[in-house]
Amino acid sequence: MKSANILRSLVVGAALLVAGAASAQAPAPAPAAPAAAPPPVVSTAAPPMSRLDGVSVPAAGPSSYQSPSMRPEAGLMSNDAELLRALAPTRGQVTIPDQKLATLIQPAGRDWRAAVKGPIRVVGSWLLLGMCCLLIAFYLLRGKIMIDSGMSGRTVERFNSFERFVHWMTAGAFVVLAITGLNITYGRYLLLPLLGPDAFTAISVAFKYLHNYLAFGFMLGIVLMFVLWVRHNIPSKIDLQWIAVGGGLFAKGVHPPAEKFNAGQKIIFWSVIVGGVAISVSGVWLMFPFFLGDVASMQLMQVIHAVVSLVLTAIVIAHIYIGSLGMEQAFDAMGTGQVDENWAKEHHGLWLAKLKGQAAPQYKMGHD
Ligand code: HEM
Repeated sequence: MKSANILRSLVVGAALLVAGAASAQAPAPAPAAPAAAPPPVVSTAAPPMSRLDGVSVPAAGPSSYQSPSMRPEAGLMSNDAELLRALAPTRGQVTIPDQKLATLIQPAGRDWRAAVKGPIRVVGSWLLLGMCCLLIAFYLLRGKIMIDSGMSGRTVERFNSFERFVHWMTAGAFVVLAITGLNITYGRYLLLPLLGPDAFTAISVAFKYLHNYLAFGFMLGIVLMFVLWVRHNIPSKIDLQWIAVGGGLFAKGVHPPAEKFNAGQKIIFWSVIVGGVAISVSGVWLMFPFFLGDVASMQLMQVIHAVVSLVLTAIVIAHIYIGSLGMEQAFDAMGTGQVDENWAKEHHGLWLAKLKGQAAPQYKMGHD
């Protein structure tokens, strides 16, 4: 640990020295009184701060830098942190066209790395595990939501083949993107110890290609989903009645009014659209490094990408549950496209009535 600290001190010191030396070669502004100016004293640990581009901080000498207030257990000595914060942004000079290579230290990178390695990973894993536990508890308490009046034997078309194609293209892409993305965040903790470095590297490289290319399928999917279903997802007063009785999900025989999509589905739809756009923009930003912005913007985009992806994955896990295991007949809507009339009557009564040209059913106290 001690030698690591010494090494870190040397690296910081050397970086500052290089910055000082680089800017010393630049044409200096004319000194006010050249004859009286004393010869510069150059420290090997920290150059005079005024010689760093865009930086004016008090010089931090080696003695204070190596003081007992270092906190190696925090992974970063407190003086390192203070010094780096005071130096932001620290640039030297380069003579090649790629000016971003003049950045010697980017202190914000440490905050970004700490956020990604700490809270985002930890909160993300609790979010995903928490959602799975919640759904298991819901299944154990409520069981599968059945058609209360039983199957009628008559079916109606819920989604046509193009709608189903768009759904499964988006869903397929999302599931692969979620798995390959989670590998980037958690793979080194979960898979690396199981598979070893060679297999983990091979899998991660393949996952990265899948992640980059399938992103385009997902982006196309959310655009098409938006065009196909936005008119059915405009919030309305009826949604409040649905929400007031929890969508009838928690009690048998409760069937609140709903059009083609109920309030819960509208929440899923808008989460997919808004979250999908945020994930897409930030993902494209990261896919072409430095093309759309500098390193700070890429760090911000990475945080947006990670946080929104984790939240949307948790939401989609709930959606997958209710669309498969959780509700009788739900899967058929996206599988064959046909649903039983009684299912449609109980879960989307207003939509069924409109489809059949009948008068809207009467709902008392928010449900039929
Ligand atoms: C992979 C497993 C999935 C299953 C089994 C599944 C199942 C379903 C079902 C059955 C429906 C129709 C519900 C109805 O009849 O009203 C549906 C609709 C929908 N699905 Fe999925 N889905 C899956 C994945 C996804 C993914 C990954 C996304 C997006 C990222 C997604 C987005 C949607 C949207 C926006 C709708 C329309 C709104 C809604 O019903 O909530 N689905 N899904």
